Amino acid sequence: MATYDIVIIGCGPGGGDAAVRGAQLGGKVCVVEKRDFGGTCVNRGCIPTKAILKSAHLFHDIEKASEFGINVGKPTVDFAKVMERKAGITSNLSQGIESLLGSYGVDTVIGEGRVAKPGLVEVKKEDGSIEKLETRNIVVATGSEPGYIPIFRQESGNVINSDGVLSATELPKSVIIIGGGVIGSEIGCMYNAFGVDVTILEILPFILSTEDGQIARYMQGIFKRRGINIFVKAKIIEAIDDGKEITIKLESGEILKSEKAILCVGRARNSANLGLEDLGVDIQRGRITVNEKQETGVKGIYAIGDVSALIQLAHAATAEGMVAVANCMGQDKKMDHSVIPAGIFTWPEIGSVGLRAEQARKEGIRPKTGRFMFASSGRAASVGETEGFVKVLADPESDKILGVHIIGDRATDLIHEAAVAMEHGLTTHDLAEVIHSHPTMSESIMEAMEDVHDMSVHVPKV
Ligand code: FAD
Ligand code: NAI
Repeated sequence: MATYDIVIIGCGPGGGDAAVRGAQLGGKVCVVEKRDFGGTCVNRGCIPTKAILKSAHLFHDIEKASEFGINVGKPTVDFAKVMERKAGITSNLSQGIESLLGSYGVDTVIGEGRVAKPGLVEVKKEDGSIEKLETRNIVVATGSEPGYIPIFRQESGNVINSDGVLSATELPKSVIIIGGGVIGSEIGCMYNAFGVDVTILEILPFILSTEDGQIARYMQGIFKRRGINIFVKAKIIEAIDDGKEITIKLESGEILKSEKAILCVGRARNSANLGLEDLGVDIQRGRITVNEKQETGVKGIYAIGDVSALIQLAHAATAEGMVAVANCMGQDKKMDHSVIPAGIFTWPEIGSVGLRAEQARKEGIRPKTGRFMFASSGRAASVGETEGFVKVLADPESDKILGVHIIGDRATDLIHEAAVAMEHGLTTHDLAEVIHSHPTMSESIMEAMEDVHDMSVHVPKV
């Protein structure tokens, strides 16, 4: 039986990146994967959505090309080609991960892994045989799957989830998206650009409730102006799928019909059937409990990524993986979740890091705020991307940056300037003093920092 330093179950961004880092630290590492290398992110999440969103955005840009003095006829969508391009990208990346692991001497085993006991992983292979892997440490990185709600307990007929959207072969004429969170908003934005009739049903008072309230409301306004129907505080009381279309009745009395209903109501963690409960690993509503070192309560068993995290993002899974394998290899590392930037790839994009105003108030902080509208930015005007703004929250005493929230063109990249500043404890003064080149979208971050102290020279005096 092979003996390893680390066996990782699951090869998403968490498990895959952790495996390479484990090998870089001198460990003998094995990764067990039951489906595709790259996990949800590469195959059913981050990458395929962004590939399709690129096609949708291009379509949207071409439709308004005449505003820029470029006349092209009315564009049409070849959806099969859109999906073929997406499939090529995901399969290349997935294969790339397998060869990357090989280049570091990481062993890979295809099959379903479970923890038989601390130090022993059993893998059920496709032919039914069991391979046993002896190891000093186990990292559970099994990720998550689309979640359900009582009225829709599975994908069936005209009810699909994000996996169904990403494997569709045709564009539907109309969709009702259930859940106006991150996935629902990205999918809604994409379908709307392709000309699909989109309705979003959100049970809370606003879509994108994990974002800063002003940003969520601003995005909701943009979506509505683009023709997306949004029902908030929407409680579904009945749903009928007659095979041709789906009819949804809301508690408010509205009756809505569409070709497809798409469930985007959060993710269910893959923590069952791994043998963990039998070993005494604590699991709360599907989430494996870990400490700052990513250790479960059972020695030698770690968990990372969507299966154990509160923040379900690919780069958070990677960061947790780095901490876990460093600890497996004898280091003493702790995970810090305070500065994790996040991006939403709608247009305009959203980028955020740190505290939201609502969270700050809950923590008893009355932050100073600064804001800069892209409508006042020369760069935004010249590229025709004036929607959105940068919002900064600063500690009223120390002036340290507590949070930055951006809605606007390339916000998902811009946000990293703020993340670097926060990671290193900079103040709004520190960042405002950095000379930013002109004309760039980044200047707006500097201006928002200055606005915290009413010193932006491009914000009119009130
Ligand atoms: P996963 O990526 O879920 O990987 C887990 C792997 O474990 C899978 O390959 C699975 O097959 C395998 N596995 C499970 N059980 C077993 C077992 N018993 N044995 C062997 N293998 C097993 N995040 C971002 O940061 N940016 C984005 O733009 C973004 N877009 C998204 C879009 C969508 C539509 C979705 C659904 C998610 C998106 N996410 C995004 C979230 C991101 O995909 C996840 O946070 C990330 O994939 C979590 O990584 P992970 O390694 O924890 O798990
Ligand atoms: P989410 O938690 O962001 O949103 C789910 C939404 O569904 C919430 O707004 C919730 O109130 C609503 N909802 C729940 N039950 C409902 C019901 N019965 N009726 C109507 N609305 C209901 O989860 P989502 O969008 O599924 O995404 C899952 C995870 O994937 C997120 O944690 C996110 O971080 C990650 N992700 C990240 C992306 C990115 O970084 N760009 C893109 C897509 C997903």
